[in-house]
Amino acid sequence: MLAYNLIGSSLVALGALSIATMRARANWGSSALDRTTGAQEAVSERAPSPENDGWYHQHGDPSVVELGGSMGPRLIIVSNRVAVPEPGSKQMAGGLVVAVKAALRNRTGVWFGWSGKIDETETAEPRTVERNHITYAVIDLSKNDFEEYYNGLANRVLWPILHYRVDLQEYSRADHSGYMRVNRLFADKLSAFLREDDVIWVHDYHLMPLARELRIRGRLNPIGFFLHIPCAPLDILRTLPHHDEILGALTDYDLVGFQTENDRDNFAAYLSTAPGVKKGRGLTFEVEGRQTRIGAFPVSIETATYARLARKAARSPFAKEIRESLTGLRLVLGVDRLDYSKGIVQRINAFDRFLEVNPEWRSRVTLLQIAPRSRSAIIDYAAIENEVTTLIGRVNGRYGEAFWTPIRYINRFHSRTALSGIYRAADVALITPLRDGMNIVAKEYVAAQDPENPGVLVLSQFAGAAAELTGALIVNPHECDAVAAALKRALGMPLFERRERHGPMLEHLLVHDIDQWAESYLAALAETRQRPGLMSELRAFLSPSRSRTDRRATPEVRRQA
Ligand code: G6P
Repeated sequence: MLAYNLIGSSLVALGALSIATMRARANWGSSALDRTTGAQEAVSERAPSPENDGWYHQHGDPSVVELGGSMGPRLIIVSNRVAVPEPGSKQMAGGLVVAVKAALRNRTGVWFGWSGKIDETETAEPRTVERNHITYAVIDLSKNDFEEYYNGLANRVLWPILHYRVDLQEYSRADHSGYMRVNRLFADKLSAFLREDDVIWVHDYHLMPLARELRIRGRLNPIGFFLHIPCAPLDILRTLPHHDEILGALTDYDLVGFQTENDRDNFAAYLSTAPGVKKGRGLTFEVEGRQTRIGAFPVSIETATYARLARKAARSPFAKEIRESLTGLRLVLGVDRLDYSKGIVQRINAFDRFLEVNPEWRSRVTLLQIAPRSRSAIIDYAAIENEVTTLIGRVNGRYGEAFWTPIRYINRFHSRTALSGIYRAADVALITPLRDGMNIVAKEYVAAQDPENPGVLVLSQFAGAAAELTGALIVNPHECDAVAAALKRALGMPLFERRERHGPMLEHLLVHDIDQWAESYLAALAETRQRPGLMSELRAFLSPSRSRTDRRATPEVRRQA
């Protein structure tokens, strides 16, 4: 810990390198892990030794070879689950996956975490796969780890608490120690291949104590953390037993990022009352002489790419099939992981109320609810599935006709392309979580619309996205009548108002896209080390060479959207 107060060695290493060299390294095509330490030799036949290191890199850059080849700052992303692309398999691209991919685009990087597999034999070294210049390094978890760390403390305690659902937390000492054990396991595996000049970016609530564990192992690297889910207010955070061991450990990161200012302020309030934490300047806090900065960095999407995808998908046979199946019905859409935080039950109740009080809309509209199953081993998730299924059956039974099903319900995953086509076909997106860190479905829906004839977004005030998507009809998901009224208004909204609402939201998302998110976070992380002179170099390294004009809302981009 003390050692950490010394000058960050990663920055010394950075200072020794020219920007040109760093750029050259950033563009290497070969596997970052493969090119690194002896720890990797066991996992890859191509793993180079210190002697041969660098000889098979693609460009043979003389400056790289001169400096020993293997050195150069890498971005190490760590998250619980790693989405290793499997050829031919559909993957659900949630907010975290989209965000991590953007952070790694155009950078030399490694994505480290759990493979999603359970295996009793401990993985000696991470397995590595390289796809599109990203090295994926994964380990398996034991059944016990899976139960105590993932199902237990992460998803039966932290998830509900951070989503303001104290009533659902099921704390146990065994799960707490399982959570700490897996964080130590991650730290050990990660430590084995870390280099002094790596920049580490840890994602989400599963891995809050990871920086502390890495510091204990003597790691002085810049380490950032981003919380993808909400951060509840102080009194709620304090319901977590031994919260200082988990939430307090966030002070070992250099930068802790949140989705919204509200989340950030909740955490600031927590730190302000935590023993041993001193408030520094601005959004900085100090513990035993070392500083942590906190900030709001609203996660986003690849807006321009997504808009193009949706435009293409609208012409696909799949989209045609959907349109034909609608036989003139208006389409209202809900897309969520099957999770109690998403407010699916309240949404179905609101749709029920809408049909009850607006009989003229019966047989003219259908709600398509896509809800892939999630965390099914946890009882609250099984319960929500039963509740949703029963409720949908009841509504369909009450209002349905032989020729009309009010609610279509699907548990299957859909590819990004298929989803973009469905978004484009939907007249209204009903996105009404009870609490959500951001909700990227809301952003994707906006990006996927035809700007000439856009649909209407009905959005919960409790989604992080509501702070940015001000053209949406903002609702309180707990007020059934208000959601039903907003739905009626959305379905009857004239074209000029739909355009007026949609245009500025699209413009906003074209500027504040996922690349801007990653760049601004990493620039802020670089600044936390406050070494003038070196900062500009680190910053230059961390920003990909992509022209910033790419994401400006030019008329061309808007036309293409
Ligand atoms: C949320 C969390 C992510 C998580 C995802 C899927 O978006 O913020 O960290 O990966 O849900 O959940 P799962 O438990 O299936 O990984």
